[in-house]
Amino acid sequence: MFFDTHAHYDSYKFNADRDTVLSSLPALGVDLVVDPGCDEASSREAIVLSERYDYLYAAVGWQPQELKESYYDGALDVIQELARHPKVVAIGEIGLDYYWDTSYNALQHEVLRAQLRMALELDLPVIFHDREAHGDSLAIVREFPGVRGVFHCFSGSAEMAKELIKLGWYLGFDGPVTYKNNRKHKEVLEVCPMERILIETDSPYLSPEPNRGTRNHSGNLRYIAEKIGEIKGLSMEDTAHVTAENGRRLFRI
Ligand code: NI
Repeated sequence: MFFDTHAHYDSYKFNADRDTVLSSLPALGVDLVVDPGCDEASSREAIVLSERYDYLYAAVGWQPQELKESYYDGALDVIQELARHPKVVAIGEIGLDYYWDTSYNALQHEVLRAQLRMALELDLPVIFHDREAHGDSLAIVREFPGVRGVFHCFSGSAEMAKELIKLGWYLGFDGPVTYKNNRKHKEVLEVCPMERILIETDSPYLSPEPNRGTRNHSGNLRYIAEKIGEIKGLSMEDTAHVTAENGRRLFRI
């Protein structure tokens, strides 16, 4: 029933019980998961997990926060090679993050553009991370009209959502839609057509209410689907079904 389009099961936070958690997901109604890499090591780890679990697919890429410490010349040649694995369904996560550190924005822009070119060349969708970088993210995405994907954990305005939808993108929604102060998400969801909405947990982070503050897992998607359904006038089940179909269409699963 559920498709978790963004969950980091390669995270060290699952080291103690990763296989127990992953084995329990089908019984919780989770049919599909995409695990996006954030650097080379986590991209490789996501692929290993995709080989072990039929319902888990991988994405590979360099996330902006990881660039400062460990990025190196030639890193994207490795990603391009990894992307040819049959269970890799996207390039990601990639994007811009001005929240933590703006001292290396030029590198962020360069690596983002290179990965968008790669997605175009390999004909893969992308998983886009945009934190406090809405204007530049939209501007760079516009340079690549042939690239499609999802703005994961979308945090922009309703205006930006409309622009991205016009450009053919999907928007991903996570636990924060269930938080009390979610007026902005409601406005965005109201302008986002149902067929462009994806649901994701971003596990182990961002647990929805009523489990906020605990380690997240894909079984919590029901709370996100329930909240979105409430705003869109759909049942939790129909919301889960439609968003899963959307994910299959985007990632060609
Ligand atoms: Ni993520």
